[in-house]
Amino acid sequence: MSATVEVDVHLVEADRAAAMAHDVRVGLKATPKVLPPVWFYDEAGSILFDEITRLPEYYPTRAEHAILEARSAEIAHRTGATTLVELGSGTSEKTRLLLDALAGRGDLERFVPLDVSEEVLRGAADDISRAYDLPVHAVVGDFHRHLRELPREGRRLVAFLGGTIGNFHPGQRRKFLAELDAAMDHDEWLLLGTDLVKDEARLVAAYDDAQGVTAEFNRNVLRVINNELGGDFDPDAFEHVALWDPDNSWIEMRLRSRRDQHVRVADLDLEVDFAAGEELQTEISTKFTPEGVREVLWDGGFVVEETWTDPAGDFQLTLARPWC
Ligand code: SAH
Ligand code: TRP
Repeated sequence: MSATVEVDVHLVEADRAAAMAHDVRVGLKATPKVLPPVWFYDEAGSILFDEITRLPEYYPTRAEHAILEARSAEIAHRTGATTLVELGSGTSEKTRLLLDALAGRGDLERFVPLDVSEEVLRGAADDISRAYDLPVHAVVGDFHRHLRELPREGRRLVAFLGGTIGNFHPGQRRKFLAELDAAMDHDEWLLLGTDLVKDEARLVAAYDDAQGVTAEFNRNVLRVINNELGGDFDPDAFEHVALWDPDNSWIEMRLRSRRDQHVRVADLDLEVDFAAGEELQTEISTKFTPEGVREVLWDGGFVVEETWTDPAGDFQLTLARPWC
């Protein structure tokens, strides 16, 4: 007998196309031009992100992995969770450390991964269900819109790893945490991964690697628009830019037009001009201090129970719970 995989799709193809059309129309007409990062992650984008996690310059994945390796047993014991929920789960590679620890206690009942990238999510759900003989209830959705749809069974530990919360602008982050808080019971847990402030050179290198994988990942958003909305972007006509913004404490990723150019997005009947040197904003990645994490969580309705870092102090995992 093998455990079941159930997949709820809250972001059907038509929704995805409509949401992307809206973001592209608004974003390419804005000044400065901007595209939200959610559209990086088609299948090719997910594969490129996976490559990023193995780059020598990209320390966050290894650092978070080290913390999970050292602390998963303690996290399993402290939370006594029977359901592991994971937001923006991707391949759920590091998550297996948590699954091992929770399953080892003998009371793990299900895994609930949520991601926008349907192919990657289905692949991970099948693998994990088979490897752990565990029911998996996967949710294809947008964590800015579909937290209410998360299944509620069991005593849940909600993991949000990879420093993905750093990709939210402050207003978006507040809204996300408030919605998550509203979707959780007082005896449930949040496990949050955040990247920490450090030397600027290391931060920039992590988002501008020597092999150019991050540059390809950044340009992938243009390929997604070409493939899904009939755009005619020439990705090579845009240069990858990663800058540290000390005032906001975030890395900002942009695509800089190498020349004057005209782009057409056929399905939207949209025509856009780029001047040479003009920049399109694609992503931020906020770096926190431990106090910053505590404040952000408190403002969002969560109280910190425990924090852990890797030996180098590069990355932090925080265990928190709703405060009322
Ligand atoms: N948790 C993994 C992956 C992090 S990359 C890790 O720690 O390595 C960010 C993940 O979030 C990707 O899998 C991407 O598909 C997903 N994602 C990005 N925007 C999203 C959104 N708006 N809603 C849901 N998932 C999203
Ligand atoms: N959550 C990841 C981070 O902020 C996402 C990421 C890594 C990313 N490298 C990137 C996003 C490059 C855009 C471009 O570290």
